[in-house]
Amino acid sequence: MWRTGRGRHSSLADDLSRTHWYQGPDLDGLGFSTMTERPDDPAPHPHATEAEVEAALKDTKLAQVLYHDWEAETYDDKWSISYDQRCIDYARGRFDAAVGPAPLPYGRALELGCGTGFFLLNLMQSGVAKSGSVTDLSPGMVKVALRNAQNLGLDVDGRVADAETIPYDDDTFDLVVGHAVLHHIPDVELSLKECLRVLKPGGRFVFAGEPTTIGNAYARRLGNITWKATTGITRLPFLSGWRRPQEELDESSRAAALEAVVDLHTFDPGQLEAMARSAGAVEVAAHTEEFAAALWGWPVRTFEAAVPEEKLTWRYRMAMYRAWIGLSWLDENVMRRIVPRQFFYNAMITGVKPGGSGK
Ligand SMILES: C[S@@+](CC[C@H](N)C(=O)[O-])C[C@H]1O[C@@H](n2cnc3c(N)ncnc32)[C@H](O)[C@@H]1O
Repeated sequence: MWRTGRGRHSSLADDLSRTHWYQGPDLDGLGFSTMTERPDDPAPHPHATEAEVEAALKDTKLAQVLYHDWEAETYDDKWSISYDQRCIDYARGRFDAAVGPAPLPYGRALELGCGTGFFLLNLMQSGVAKSGSVTDLSPGMVKVALRNAQNLGLDVDGRVADAETIPYDDDTFDLVVGHAVLHHIPDVELSLKECLRVLKPGGRFVFAGEPTTIGNAYARRLGNITWKATTGITRLPFLSGWRRPQEELDESSRAAALEAVVDLHTFDPGQLEAMARSAGAVEVAAHTEEFAAALWGWPVRTFEAAVPEEKLTWRYRMAMYRAWIGLSWLDENVMRRIVPRQFFYNAMITGVKPGGSGK
């Protein structure tokens, strides 16, 4: 994840290193209710027991629910997610990059793996769809997404739902979207088939924020090198103020083990297109973004995760953000012409359900 630009997929190790999942804070005392939109939906379960965490190491969907239920209430702050122009522009930019010029707005839209609603709520604010349904495997995330939608005055309902078995009737939606979710779903083609089932003929799906296979390889390699270098050099006595407490660093290492449980896939853009066609979609197109921005951004954000937060001043953060914007411009205007698409870090895919007469 590139925190300031919101172009990313999640890194569980980084999430946990900052948030102490294992010692989960007591959210009950903070007045969070356990209500969800539908009485038959499961309630959020923010306090995982040790036994549940142990079981989650062998069960990717349980891991998703426990982890995302725990972090739902703090997710927007942690990832600098907002519902103002910055994130509206970011979400709309990804949609436009995937789809190109399209007649808007769509009528009813569905989001899979909505998290706190970052993608669909911001797309709706930008005029992409009139009404929406947010869904996620995590009840805690659905609850926060619905609260965000209500605060924004958007026409949105929500359900706890597995993207492999979407609990809506055939031909219900005009648009299905998702951000940073496909790489968490065990059977991606099954999920795309489900999208096509619930779409009306001519309806479109758009998924963005997915890691490419090559991008993920260099991002992880650069991240590991930066982590080792930063945690190594800050052992020097005169740099000790830049070292995070050892227990936090140890927790990051433990958390890295869980990443393999929830981050299931990386994608080659050509294979992603083939999978969407095999699911039954037409007008399929994959697009990729971020090459220089990712090569630079991953070491930077790993460095940030390895040092105490108070060392990162506002001026530093603004400088990094501006650099990211500049490198993203370079990627779009120069790198795109000379670097093959599979080398970019972020993938997106779109396709259409056959049988419609246009949008
Ligand atoms: C990395 S988060 C992204 C959240 C949000 N889309 C965003 O971009 O901020 C992935 C989300 O997918 C959800 N998820 C994982 N597996 C899922 C599945 N099989 N069906 C539905 N949601 C799932 C998780 O609970 C989590 O909220």
